[in-house]
Amino acid sequence: MKTIAQTQAEILALKKERDVCILAHSYQAREIVEVADFTGDSYALSVFAANAPNSVFIMCGVRFMAETVKILSPHKRVYLANPDAGCPMAEQMDRELITAVKAQMPDYTTVAYINTTAELKTVCDVCVTSSSAVQIVNAIDNDKILFIPDCNLGDYVAKQLPQKQFKLLQGGCPIHAAVKKSELLAMKKRYPQAVVAVHPECTPDVVALADYVGSTSGIMERAKSGSEREYIIGTELSIAEHLQYICPDKRFYGLSKKLLCENMKITTLPDVLNVLLGVGGEEIVLPEDTIRDARRCIDEMIRLGG
Ligand code: 13P
Ligand code: SF4
Repeated sequence: MKTIAQTQAEILALKKERDVCILAHSYQAREIVEVADFTGDSYALSVFAANAPNSVFIMCGVRFMAETVKILSPHKRVYLANPDAGCPMAEQMDRELITAVKAQMPDYTTVAYINTTAELKTVCDVCVTSSSAVQIVNAIDNDKILFIPDCNLGDYVAKQLPQKQFKLLQGGCPIHAAVKKSELLAMKKRYPQAVVAVHPECTPDVVALADYVGSTSGIMERAKSGSEREYIIGTELSIAEHLQYICPDKRFYGLSKKLLCENMKITTLPDVLNVLLGVGGEEIVLPEDTIRDARRCIDEMIRLGG
């Protein structure tokens, strides 16, 4: 039997030998984060990949993240470590639906959360991530915004930018949206000293009770740098776990046991090794016109967010 440490050592040797860059979203398991060249939120991953010199990437995350890397680096090989890792939110709306909605609202700028398929991005104007949404939407030279697909993130951005007019559709993350205000109230009662840090994919009533609202990296930074000793973490449970390793002298409590993203959790360390051995994963292949048209939307995000 191979141990975790032996598997990690094999991965590290192979990736060095083949000049492969391993990217891991912050929701990945600890043993994957430990072998990654870079770990971060959706925005940081896409920017890092765009600037990395490697010719092969392995994405430990979900499909739209691997597609984003491919769109930014079309001449490089990009593998999704586990081909079944999709994001249900990214699949909620398709190009036909949004094309029809846009036709009804020609004077609106269509802002797509990065949690969308490459195909859907081709008909949108600007991408945003949870860490950059407020800044980017603020920088758009139009006060009329069609924000898709996450109505919770859209509501959060709209509240920060009351000067703009938002049209939201009924989409969102089933994991974050499942957390109830009553659960947060119960956690606050149990840990009255704890700072509440939540992801803006949570519902507005949960977000309204938070001390801090931000992306996965934003939440981690707030918790690492804060002088407070206890934190209720309102995003995927792995973040509270990672933080507990990073800051052993503080205490981190997952806001709800519903905050478990099965898609983020299906990638395993052996999956990563199998990609390097050429017997696993899926190489991301996108039509040239999809890459070209989706890229406009991502380039605009990087331009407005930079
Ligand atoms: P971040 O942009 O914060 O990494 O979030 C991605 C995601 O899928 C959250 O559920
Ligand atoms: Fe998608 Fe939600 Fe999972 Fe993030 S937590 S990958 S938005 S399903």
